[in-house]
Amino acid sequence: MSLKRLSLVTLMATFAIMSTTRAFQRMHMRPMSRRAALWTSANNYDVTRASSSSSSSSVSSTSMSMSGILGSSSSSTSRIITKRSLYNLHSSCTTRLMSQTSASTDTLSDELETKIKNKGDEIRSLKEKGISKEELAPHVSELMELKAQLNPAATTTQKEKGAGEKKQTQSPGESTASSSDDAESDYITPRSTNYSKWYNDIVRVCDLAETSPVRGCMVIKPWGMSLWDQIRTNLDARIKEHGAENAYFPLLIPQSFLSKEAEHVDGFAKECAVVTHHRLTTDKSEKGGLMADPEAELEDPLIIRPTSETMIWSMFKKWIVSHRDLPLKVNQWANVMRWEMRTRPFLRTSEFLWQEGHTAHASAEGALADSKEMMHQYADMCEKLLAMPVIKGAKSPSERFAGAEETFTIEALMQNGWALQSGTSHFLGQSFGKAFDVTYQDAEGQQQVVWGTSWGVSTRLIGALIMTHSDDAGLVLPPRVAPVQVVVVPIPPKKNDEAGKIALNNTLDKLVADLKGAGLKVKVDDRDYVRNGAKYFEWERKGVPLRIELGPRDVAGGVCVFKYRVGSEGKTTVSLDEVAATATKGLEDMQEFLLESAKERLAAGINVMATYDEMKVALEKDEASEYNGPGLYLVPWKCDAANEEKIKEECKATIRCYPIDVNNAGMAEGKKCFYSGEDATHMALFGRAF
Ligand SMILES: *[C@@H]1O[C@H](CO)[C@@H](O)[C@H](O)[C@H]1NC(C)=O
Ligand SMILES: *[C@@H]1O[C@H](CO)[C@@H](O)[C@H](O)[C@H]1NC(C)=O
Repeated sequence: MSLKRLSLVTLMATFAIMSTTRAFQRMHMRPMSRRAALWTSANNYDVTRASSSSSSSSVSSTSMSMSGILGSSSSSTSRIITKRSLYNLHSSCTTRLMSQTSASTDTLSDELETKIKNKGDEIRSLKEKGISKEELAPHVSELMELKAQLNPAATTTQKEKGAGEKKQTQSPGESTASSSDDAESDYITPRSTNYSKWYNDIVRVCDLAETSPVRGCMVIKPWGMSLWDQIRTNLDARIKEHGAENAYFPLLIPQSFLSKEAEHVDGFAKECAVVTHHRLTTDKSEKGGLMADPEAELEDPLIIRPTSETMIWSMFKKWIVSHRDLPLKVNQWANVMRWEMRTRPFLRTSEFLWQEGHTAHASAEGALADSKEMMHQYADMCEKLLAMPVIKGAKSPSERFAGAEETFTIEALMQNGWALQSGTSHFLGQSFGKAFDVTYQDAEGQQQVVWGTSWGVSTRLIGALIMTHSDDAGLVLPPRVAPVQVVVVPIPPKKNDEAGKIALNNTLDKLVADLKGAGLKVKVDDRDYVRNGAKYFEWERKGVPLRIELGPRDVAGGVCVFKYRVGSEGKTTVSLDEVAATATKGLEDMQEFLLESAKERLAAGINVMATYDEMKVALEKDEASEYNGPGLYLVPWKCDAANEEKIKEECKATIRCYPIDVNNAGMAEGKKCFYSGEDATHMALFGRAF
């Protein structure tokens, strides 16, 4: 029996057991009228900003007018752009675009928005008259109140915020670290109450990210950014090992580039931000403020990159001449922008950070192998670093990247039963080679069109990480990706115990040196204005894998106290001589424990060979907010875009992928499609997805 066969059998057996248990685990589903936008950003109306920039209008600047290219004729495009530019400069009317609220709420918020706008205009004109700050203050607080009514959670005045924190938090020291503009700033909703809310709470309370004044764009805070740094460091080494070199390409792409590859432009046009002007000017109309200078319109508008294939292939044309130049592999770490209507921090934001690799090859086989290899790298990184198992597969034709012949994906299963596409790798065939006329001279002197790939993962992985391991107490970080693996909390002796203090310091120094010597990332929390309990609470929430407590009595006894974030109950006492070895082993075990738990959950979350009706009933009412959702469905399927679309309409399920393992093992052979009843071409994995 071949190895592949064997692993399939094991897999199938696991599925069988798991799907039975799954039936018991299945919770009743709470129907919800409509899935609301989970992350509505704060109302953007920012008077101070608008007027302060108007006073510096002499500085030449670039106006970036964001717009979806909705119409094909250029006149309709520019009309939309003008309208949106106004939104941008005056920054009002944004919540309406975002939230999916009911009609009556809409009217109410329309009224409020008008009031807010009028108040804002009033303040602006008062400012222009040179009114003092004191005189302006009541107007500003009136505006703040209106804004609070529009979006109570997102807006609090500075004063209220300070007071609220004092009441809620453990200690004053902690409150500065975890301050947030949410009224319930310290509360984490349990997952079983509302999984979506839990996710938002984790992001906010654990200091990972925050909404920004720009709709759909988030601020990644240091703790969140340090996670991205860990991922980046790990992946950058893998990318270099893969043979790609880092480079950097422009943020702005000529609109004409995007139109060169027909499928590509179709796929991205609806979410492009367009730069149409290169200068602002004072708006002489009643509105005042700033406007894009009509005199400074760009002839060829520029697109803020949604991805960089077009820019990079325009350069490949210059760089590739002969077969000796191939394969050519470049990667860039960058930000991209895709105008999103519904956003969730890390999972879907208009601007996000990612890496994008682009390769050019002399043969189809070379390119295809490259794209598969990166899929494997991504999967391996997810497993080894993030302790997150993924399913590797190929996308169905309708889910492919715009312009690709094959898209490979890694799909992860979140705790609520929804899938998260966590990375993709595309075999581009010759589409970009042809569109950008990139050819090479082969060994026989013939001109040949170049084959290509592209592949990327983004800050979305942080969302995946959160929804794979974290719990109701906060973030849970696998030790390998934790920016701090061990936090040491020294418990100071009594005030007048000078000898005790010296002994503690010496022991602490040695302890930290030992841990660092073992290659662990250590932080000592010796803030004297924060109580020990508050420290424990804070680091637990932030997901630090191991806490070590060291008090005067421990020092005297030559021991310290270990407490792991998950995977082992209670505290353990460890001899100071064995701290480094014990911590190293304990953290390895925890990494293993998290991966195993996630693997079990994934296996249990895949329903094998369900009927279409079973899947439909389970998925059509499923919501992202439901913690124990139904999960994934592995079924025989006849590849058919029309049926795929019908299923999406009927129960919102999409084909996450055609999993590679089971398809290579021939699992679909001789089976009938669960939807059409025709001969199956693939085993398809269906599910709801973020
Ligand atoms: C769950 O929380 C989200 C985000 O806060 C909210 O939009 C949604 O309405 C909530 N769902 C339920 C069922 O309470
Ligand atoms: C012990 O270390 C703390 C923090 O580093 C320091 O403030 C304190 O002065 C030290 N005490 C003694 C007695 O060395």
